[in-house]
Order: sequence, then structure tokens, then C-alpha cells
Amino acid sequence: MYILGIETSCDETAASVVKDGREVLSSVVATQVETHALYGGVVPEIASRAHTEAISAVVSEALKKAGISLDKIDAVAVTYAPGLIGALLTGLSYAKGLSYAAGKTLIPTHHIRGHVAANYLVYPELKPPFYALVVSGGHTSLMLVNDYTDYAVIGRARDDAAGEAFDKAARVLGLSYPGGAAMDRLACSGDANAIKFTSATVHDSEYDFSFSGLKTAVINYVHTQEARGKSLDDKMKADIAASFTKALIYTVSVRLEKLLDTEKALPVALAGGVAANSHLRKAVTEICEARNIGVFIPPLSLCGDNAAMIASQGYYEYIGGSKGCHNQNAYATMEI
Ligand code: KG4
Ligand code: ZN
Repeated sequence: MYILGIETSCDETAASVVKDGREVLSSVVATQVETHALYGGVVPEIASRAHTEAISAVVSEALKKAGISLDKIDAVAVTYAPGLIGALLTGLSYAKGLSYAAGKTLIPTHHIRGHVAANYLVYPELKPPFYALVVSGGHTSLMLVNDYTDYAVIGRARDDAAGEAFDKAARVLGLSYPGGAAMDRLACSGDANAIKFTSATVHDSEYDFSFSGLKTAVINYVHTQEARGKSLDDKMKADIAASFTKALIYTVSVRLEKLLDTEKALPVALAGGVAANSHLRKAVTEICEARNIGVFIPPLSLCGDNAAMIASQGYYEYIGGSKGCHNQNAYATMEI
């Protein structure tokens, strides 16, 4: 079965063709990151307009690269939630029009389920049940994937997502948006024990995450240094990046370790934009290997937003009987 996936939930316009949920035939991503970098973050109105301009060409390119014509496509999977509402609506409206005109099934697909599905594209052996740790710009959650379309949330971010904290910490260090990848590189040369940033706990939930305190702590630390007249040299910046990364990864690690040590020892799949972080990849791998538990981490190309992950999850949504109709709406927030 050939599924055309479409993803426009944030600042990447993406389309892909995936066979039987597991084999990527094409994956095209048109990023708007340079446009948004001028403003230090995603400007929703600009994102929607840019998606509208790019979507036709991106879909055509995905079909062309897959070497398949639209009539051979069985269904169109599209991200309908969660994300920036205007951005989501451009992709959804395009997918609705295309599927209606071409007589294809529409499959509304959840963005976070899509991130998890990125792992199906590279690990044929990965099958539910497993734990999914999604760490992205907009979401941080620890989930039990009972089945391809049956998720139970174990812990979620109560405030900022990990990626948001990375981006804001990067900004205060003078790195351009989105700063996650630059923070990753900077942290490699820093001393992670130079500054003690504390990891927050959530008083009524052992598995929920909170990153806004850590984000504010790093901003305050930099501002305090500046107020004291200390200009940050490269060594200090690297130490801040490394210390911040250590605290953030500790927050994630303690929850994952607790889960694996107290609940069923299932394999772990990491996903989301922040899954590209080398320090997080290493920490999650070590935690799982120490317990002899399978660990699945997507290649960097499938960590950030893309449409192959949407086409993959769309396949399982289709198999599970979930089909959209032509008055399908998009939603900025939506439980998994
Ligand atoms: O999953 P994603 O592409 O978009 C959302 O669905 O949110 O995640 C984007 C986030 C950004 O915050 C970006 O800075 C972060 O992923 N990111 C990283 C790295 N690469 C991307 N964060 C830390 N280390 C990285 N290497
Ligand atoms: Zn995403």
C-alpha cells in the first residue's frame, strides 16, 4: 500500500511516499528556518503563507522522487494536530482537496504519533508494545505504545518542552534560532559540572516534566554575569551549554530509569527533534543497555519534522480503520 504523507504543523513543508508503513520511497522537506531565524522563532502567519507557497511543489517532488504517479497512491495521510493552527490548516486543506479530487482516502494523523513512527521506517523489528520518549520543540512526553494506534501517556511536560528550553538557552548565548543543534555542538567542548542548574520535579507526578525553571535559570545566569560586567567568552558559553544540557538530560533520564526499574521492562523508542541531540542519544542508549533493554533511535534525518513519519503512522491509522472525511478539521492541541 502506497501512502502519500503531508506535514505542515510548524515550519517545515514536507511530503513523502511510504510503502506499507515501513519503506520510504521519497521524503522531501522544505524548511522555512532561515525566514523565522530573522525573528528568533517561528512566526505563525509567515509559516502558513510559506506552506501555501511551497506545498504543491513539495508534493509533486515527493511523487516524482518516489517514481510514482498520483493514481498509484492508495491514501493521503496528513498531520491534523497538534501544531500551529494556520500551518496545520494549509496542509490539511491541500490534502482534503487532493484526496477528494483524486478519489483517495484521507487519513488524519497525529503529529506526535508520527514522530514515534519515524522509528518504524528504520527498525523493521520494532513492534508495540514499547515505551516512546518524544522530545521535540513543542512536546516532551513519555508514553506506553500498547499498539500502533493505542497510546497511554505516562508523563508529559507541564510547561515548556525540552526543545523550547534548548532554543531559549541558545538564544541567550547568542546562537541563532533554532539553537538546539548549535547547543549540542557547544556542549561537547564545555564542562558539564561548571554550573549547577537544578532539575525540577513536579510535586504531584513522578513522570511529568518541567523545563521552564531550567530555561529561566540559564537566562538569569547569563544576565547576572552580564550585570556583573563579565562578558561571556567561548569557554564560559560552552560550560553553560554543557551544564544546561546535563540538567535537562538528567530530568529525562531519572524518569526513564524509574519507569524501566519499576514497571514492565519494554524496549524504548526515542523520537522528536531533540532526539537528534548527541548527549541525549548517548544517555538513553546507556540507560537501556545497562538494563539489557532494546533501544531505538531514528537517524538525524528522521528526528525533526518530516512527512515520511506521517505516512508511516498514517498506514497504521488506516489499518486500524481510522479515515477522515472532507469536513475534517485541524486542532492546535490534541491528546495523543
Ligand atoms: O520535532 P521538531 O522538529 O519540531 C516540533 O515538533 O517541535 O523539533 C524541533 C526542536 C527545536 O527546538 C530544535 O532546537 C531541536 O528540536 N533540536 C535539537 C537538536 N536538533 C534539533 N535540540 C537539541 N540538540 C539537537 N541536536
Ligand atoms: Zn515535530
